[in-house]
Amino acid sequence: MSATAKKTAPLPADIIARKGETPLVCLTAYTTPIARLTDPYCDIVLVGDSVGMVLHGMESTLGVTMEMMVMHGAAVRRGLAKAMMVIDMPFGSYEEGPQQAFRNAARLMRETGAAAVKLEGGVEMAETIRFLTARSIPVMAHIGLTPQAINTLGGYKVQGRGQDRARVLEDAHAVARAGAFSVVLEKVPAALADEITAELPIPTIGIGASAGCDGQILVVDDMLGLFTAFKPKFAKRYGTLGQAADAAIAAYAEEVRARAFPAPEHVFGDAVPETKA
Ligand code: KIV
Repeated sequence: MSATAKKTAPLPADIIARKGETPLVCLTAYTTPIARLTDPYCDIVLVGDSVGMVLHGMESTLGVTMEMMVMHGAAVRRGLAKAMMVIDMPFGSYEEGPQQAFRNAARLMRETGAAAVKLEGGVEMAETIRFLTARSIPVMAHIGLTPQAINTLGGYKVQGRGQDRARVLEDAHAVARAGAFSVVLEKVPAALADEITAELPIPTIGIGASAGCDGQILVVDDMLGLFTAFKPKFAKRYGTLGQAADAAIAAYAEEVRARAFPAPEHVFGDAVPETKA
């Protein structure tokens, strides 16, 4: 490819071809400016339903609506040039059955420009994943800890330990067989994540899983240090933007109270500028 050739976003087939190659770099984004920052570095940008907790102060992802996903998805799309955009199907928008899932997935893709949807669930979602992929909707699956099932899982616990191991393994095989082009493994033991990665023909994307996964994803506000309400063990902080923002806002407040801001260079004189002939 020439130095000037425009890079285009990867398609699901390109993501599958990355299996076992250089790990896929994935982050969430919810706004245009953050999408612009992630785009040069990421293979996949996910408009996660974590937006509800991260940007809207919700206690879980359960209150996130289709309208919120459409609005944030369209904003993210405007900030992307080369990364693939995947968008989460919010709680209640797909679980009734394949037809409901198709209607809402098609709306998300049509109104946001996303290239694929992500939905949570394993064996119980296989039929829906098969229905969507057979009708031109690429699906990223999400198994292990599935935050939309928080009330039945009984908390944000590691999934797949002990007797639960076989269930998570079965989920992984079910979504791959159904046609998902990749699968997020959230909060599963590293050895299980490695086994799933070795057995599945599609890329695994880990979050609290294993460095052996075919890719990694983090919530962008977690890794930037912008979301500080709580910090999951797997959410490594690569920046402290929350602290930087706090210091900047404190400095602004102090200068306003001391009448040090605005300074002369921030205000306007009343001389009418000369116009060029
Ligand atoms: O909603 C989200 O941000 C996610 C990722 C953490 C995988 O599902």
